[in-house]
Amino acid sequence: AATDMDKLVSLCKRRGFIFQSSEIYGGINGFWDYGPLGVELKKNIKEAWWTDMVRNPPIGPKGEEITMVGLDCSIIMNPRVWEASGHVSGFSDPMVDCKTEGCKSRFRADQIPGMACPLKPSKAPGQYEKCSLTEPRTFNLMFQTYVGALQDASSVAYLRPETAQGIFANFKNVVDSSRVKVPFGIAQIGKAFRNEINPRNYTFRSREFEQMEIEFFCHPDESRMWYEWWRDLRKSWYARMGISSDKLRPREQDEKELAFYSCGTTDIEYLFPFSDEPAELEGVAHRGAYDLGQHTKFSGQDLTYFDETAWERDKASHGTNSFKEFAKKPENAELLGKYQYLPHVIEPSAGADRFTLAVLCEAYTEDKVPNDKGGEEERLVLKIHPRLAPIKAAILPLMNKDGLPEKAMALYRELKAEFNVFYDDKGAIGRRYRRQDEAGTPFCITIDPESMTNDSVTIRDRDSLKQRRIPIREVANEIRAALRP
Ligand code: GAP
Repeated sequence: AATDMDKLVSLCKRRGFIFQSSEIYGGINGFWDYGPLGVELKKNIKEAWWTDMVRNPPIGPKGEEITMVGLDCSIIMNPRVWEASGHVSGFSDPMVDCKTEGCKSRFRADQIPGMACPLKPSKAPGQYEKCSLTEPRTFNLMFQTYVGALQDASSVAYLRPETAQGIFANFKNVVDSSRVKVPFGIAQIGKAFRNEINPRNYTFRSREFEQMEIEFFCHPDESRMWYEWWRDLRKSWYARMGISSDKLRPREQDEKELAFYSCGTTDIEYLFPFSDEPAELEGVAHRGAYDLGQHTKFSGQDLTYFDETAWERDKASHGTNSFKEFAKKPENAELLGKYQYLPHVIEPSAGADRFTLAVLCEAYTEDKVPNDKGGEEERLVLKIHPRLAPIKAAILPLMNKDGLPEKAMALYRELKAEFNVFYDDKGAIGRRYRRQDEAGTPFCITIDPESMTNDSVTIRDRDSLKQRRIPIREVANEIRAALRP
């Protein structure tokens, strides 16, 4: 069972999953660093997403192959992109300030109705009166910077608040260069920046974070089908990654919540321990033709898609080889959209940091295990899915003598070419197991005296605590099997 945040935060620091950014200088609000275990966990999450969504997506709703390609766009783009997307005019939160002189408290008006003012102690000892607040003002969440030596209005640029716009801006480049045909998707993993008014709940709401986004382009007539397909696929992916409990809560937005261009959005939410309300891990949105339409308008470029295959198939029946000629005739107006159109977009947009946090919350378990003295002891274990676990196996010589360390080291060297494995010969074996449990390592491989006589090892399963004896040459296969998607 997941636990309260304080215990998790303390484990993450102690074991090197997550540190406060620039901690030796007192940190900086809303920014986080991933430590040696955290960087592996987050990298595995991003790799699993890329493998399962981009390189090897499942078969489509009609039994077809799904075409997916990747992109890696710049963080700073032409500022017109953000005018077209609506972020310059509309990407803001309502902000209120405390009116008490000297108090610098600032809140998102819709989130924190009444906070204690540190400059207004009340009569009760240790208690404070509430901040009295200004009227809400809009505050644009985009970070600004300047490009080039001149620092004036003409050189203002923004750090991207989402990776999606780099995909839309490259839609034509991808179509022209990679021979993809609608329906197809473009995926991107990358940093995004938002100057959140109140970063909070650990890494959940940060000012710098990573997104894993897909823009899936399809014919308008099929967009509902694709929306439902992606929504269901994304829900089931989280379950496959080990978020199988009832804490995963997909929620279809009601009409009032929907963006004006959207005819459906599902938030995939998770019940984090910091709140009674589930919070968003990912949004799967039907965005219609809004984005490509906006970029057509602002860039002046034609971003329509021409379905050559459909035209080649049908042209004889239309009695002409030239689509231009066909398009000119008024009687064909209604048919044009079959061949040339602005694709609709389905957007599954996930946060790598939020999912990392959900994995840690879901995995955090306190249980009891038998100890050497025939009793029980408390154990803290991270039950992370083996595919995502930072360390896949620990290689442990039972004793530091009789050739055991050499044999263990040889196995370690063989395995580390393929997996992130860890060699540990320090301390009692029980303590070594505990250290790996806290790191979420699914397997502990122990080399004992019997290993020296028959080339076998014991393999201990983190969750069941069961130990089996297997031939040493089977170890890599055992790990491989557990990592298979
Ligand atoms: N392109 C659509 C888009 O950006 P969003 O709902 O604003 O949609 C998508 O963001 C995902 O990015 C969220 O579901 C969340 O996982 C992640 N995300 C957004 N803001 C975040 C923040 N301040 N800190 C961490 N993750 C964030």
